Amino acid sequence: MGQLTEYIKDQIWVLEYPVRFAGMDLFGRTTILKLENGDLIVHDPCEIDDLVKEEIDAIGIVKYIVAPGSYHHLFVTDFQQKYLNAETFLCPGLEQKRQDIQFDWILGNKPDHRWEVAFFHKPSKTLILVDLLENIGDDYQHSANLLLRFWWKIVFRMWNNPKAAPEYQMGWGNKQIVKNGLEKTLNWNAERVILAHGEIIDNNVNKILSTAWRKVLNA
Ligand SMILES: [Fe+2]
Repeated sequence: MGQLTEYIKDQIWVLEYPVRFAGMDLFGRTTILKLENGDLIVHDPCEIDDLVKEEIDAIGIVKYIVAPGSYHHLFVTDFQQKYLNAETFLCPGLEQKRQDIQFDWILGNKPDHRWEVAFFHKPSKTLILVDLLENIGDDYQHSANLLLRFWWKIVFRMWNNPKAAPEYQMGWGNKQIVKNGLEKTLNWNAERVILAHGEIIDNNVNKILSTAWRKVLNA
């Protein structure tokens, strides 16, 4: 179970959590955003124990649960059970994929099961993504994991080479729609990126993003 860490003072917290992927232990990252009125958004929820729940409750009231990507929905129901009054927002397509999840709202405009919804926290210029960018390499705190090195170096060629998740690279769906979305995201001129898999990025953001997404941006 991960530890809740304050990332932007009194505004953003992050929490790493274990996930199984291709037979190995990988990690994801939950982001908790505090709105001006003190309400909390839990972005990409993970499993939490009572201790972490107490820490979250000390920050504010969990009002919104967000499943932002088509692969980031595993712990939504756990979180809902802990926060019965919170509203749930799903990435378009998840309402089909996970018909067992009760939800209040669908994010975005038009459903496409491959979509991920990017969030931008204006006060801190923080972009919050899940699988649209992975940043795994020598600086990653879990980089000693040999299986992880094998997959990311040899198979995916994404070691020290941030890119979208392999499952996204295999098929972007409607490239024009994705391209428009990525361009809009670049126009936010974020100064940092919280992502699910890998180290948080806090410099050269647009350069890293446009390099990572170049195949779609140049399409
Ligand atoms: Fe992911």
